Amino acid sequence: MNSKGTGNRPFFICYLCGMSKATYTVTAALPYANGPLHLGHVAGVYLPADIFVRFLRMNGHDVAFICGADEHGAAITLRAKKEGLSPKDIVDKYDGIIRQAFSDFNISFDIFHRTSSELHHQTSADFFKRLHDQGQFTEEVSEQYFDEEFEQFLADRYITGTCPKCQSAGAYGDQCEKCGSDLSPTDLINPISTLSGKTPVLRTTSHWYLPMNQHETWLKEWIQEGILDGEQQHNPKEWRNQVIGQCMSWINGGLRPRAMTRDLDWGVKVPLPGADGKVLYVWLDAPIGYISATKQWALDNGKDWEQYWLKSKAKDRKLVHFIGKDNIVFHAIIFPILLKNHGDFILPDNVPAYEFLNLEGDKFSTSRNWAVWLHEYIAAYPDKIDELKYVLSAIAPETKDAEFTWKEFQTRVNSELADIMGNFVNRTLVLTNKYYEGKVPAAGAYTPEDALIIAQIEEIPNRISKLAYAYKLREAQAEMMQFARIGNKYLADNEPWKLVKTDPARVETIMHLALQITANLQIGCQLFLPATAEKLSKMLNASWAHFSDLGRTDLLEAGHQIGEVQILFAKIEDALVETEVAKLKATAAPTSKFPPMKDAIAFDDFTKMDLRMGTILSAQKVEKADKLLQLTVDTGIDHRTIVSGIAEHYAPEDIIGKTVLVLLNLEPRKIRGIESQGMILMAENEEGKLSFLASEKEFGAGPSVR
Ligand code: MF3
Ligand code: ZN
Repeated sequence: MNSKGTGNRPFFICYLCGMSKATYTVTAALPYANGPLHLGHVAGVYLPADIFVRFLRMNGHDVAFICGADEHGAAITLRAKKEGLSPKDIVDKYDGIIRQAFSDFNISFDIFHRTSSELHHQTSADFFKRLHDQGQFTEEVSEQYFDEEFEQFLADRYITGTCPKCQSAGAYGDQCEKCGSDLSPTDLINPISTLSGKTPVLRTTSHWYLPMNQHETWLKEWIQEGILDGEQQHNPKEWRNQVIGQCMSWINGGLRPRAMTRDLDWGVKVPLPGADGKVLYVWLDAPIGYISATKQWALDNGKDWEQYWLKSKAKDRKLVHFIGKDNIVFHAIIFPILLKNHGDFILPDNVPAYEFLNLEGDKFSTSRNWAVWLHEYIAAYPDKIDELKYVLSAIAPETKDAEFTWKEFQTRVNSELADIMGNFVNRTLVLTNKYYEGKVPAAGAYTPEDALIIAQIEEIPNRISKLAYAYKLREAQAEMMQFARIGNKYLADNEPWKLVKTDPARVETIMHLALQITANLQIGCQLFLPATAEKLSKMLNASWAHFSDLGRTDLLEAGHQIGEVQILFAKIEDALVETEVAKLKATAAPTSKFPPMKDAIAFDDFTKMDLRMGTILSAQKVEKADKLLQLTVDTGIDHRTIVSGIAEHYAPEDIIGKTVLVLLNLEPRKIRGIESQGMILMAENEEGKLSFLASEKEFGAGPSVR
């Protein structure tokens, strides 16, 4: 592989076949470093991207497989607030968890970079500056929503409200997740700050906008016909319908200018004078993360990053973005506009977008903890990595939403991997040991049945190849399983373990062919089940690195000594399914009628509260106030007056003598002319009924609460 080439390289010559081959820059959506990965992410981006890349590499293509953590934007800062950590701590924490999980799961990125890195800040700031200097942004002063309590402008996930298009509640300032519309904060009906929960006010601020409306014409031609600047760039038939469909519905709905900067202090600083307190919009900087990651990888490996991205140097290079469907607009519209505006860059050849994976009858939900977390799966089942890969690929949501259930996981592992592939390989190798001391027997004359099998085997690589180039990796895996199915049936039909008594010569031929099929599995598994391929290579004492070897039935020579036999796949017990389903149900939050948890507070903030048990000495109604009672409370250190809004829940005469929970050091407040020196703490149920909090033991007045 002529991968060390420097300088101008017109195209890439494959060392396997001497043919010029397209070269690939493959990206997988940068996961937000605001939480761990769950199986939905894996099935609908990272695993298919990894399989595609393994396929390309085995075919001798020059590939850069790029990913990294997306560490800016409201996704990060809001998470930081929730966990009571700094944004920096949050991204360090989750970058670590995600990076480890990818590595344990054997996802073969060439680099997993970070957008918080210096190199990325520089790269994205330069990119922005160049577009700015070329006049490709418009600066606009406008009124934006502002949270007075938090002194912050509210964009994106900082603001929610009712979607003007589909009327559903809980739409965000950038997007409605229900109907997929792109929104501006000012489009929202009844906008609410997600910081304070209050209605924001409008204030003036200035931002740089990308006039997307000016790009509709060329975008249409490029997306629908694959034509850019009068040249055929890609075959639009290769794009998934839903990607073209979503893009066209956006474009036909009319693109609007979109702000490329934000008033925030976390992100890439806007590299212009007078732009203090402004950072780049995360959806501007994150995709540029693909470029900065490539730069870092090139630096670390003596490569030239420009060959992977620049028009002038990247002849016959294809850029491919693997993403989830919620990322389509950013990768098929906004980023291409930015790349084209810049002028030096190639545009994506394809944007394979995945639908969503559901879990046990419900959507994956981080907030409800309805998820199977990748790092938890790996910790629990470190020796079942390929089993999960297999099932996730088999159900990958390529064209429609799909569903993961533990029951199906068990069924597929047991009846496909164990009963078909495992059984076939095991029989083949055990019999080879038993009859031939582990040496590949020579084949005699093939029968017509054998010839048919060989013809079937020879056809499989072509089908896998067509499917893989068309991003149909789920069907490609099913084709790979054909080797096992064909082999398993071949042994079952011929029963060499019986035939050996009457026709040992025929059995040698059967076993020879079965071993060749096993060798094909060693190759095929390298795409989908790399750990299994590794095992097979030990068991066969041989391996083949090139896709062009697939389909051959002369891979193992007669006399070759095979290695030690081991079990390929253990069966999944019912207990595992039961444990996992129970765990999911136990740890998931119920769909609650109660408000969500408030943001984390520091321990110091908690200890500032002076909470004690107090005994109510007297109680009386406050005149002309239906809800209020005036109480005298013995706190153990004094007797004080507290006005409490409990008159509709307790009659004065019923509460005298009760010992309840009191917050002593709340600032005194005048209520109806009476100074209230503290607060009685109450529990409120979903119907708004109130109840005192009392101590379980009869402690009386005075004990402090901590
Ligand atoms: N972090 C985004 C998400 O999880 C994806 C970013 S992809 C990139 O939806 F192109 F912006 F990097
Ligand atoms: Zn909507």
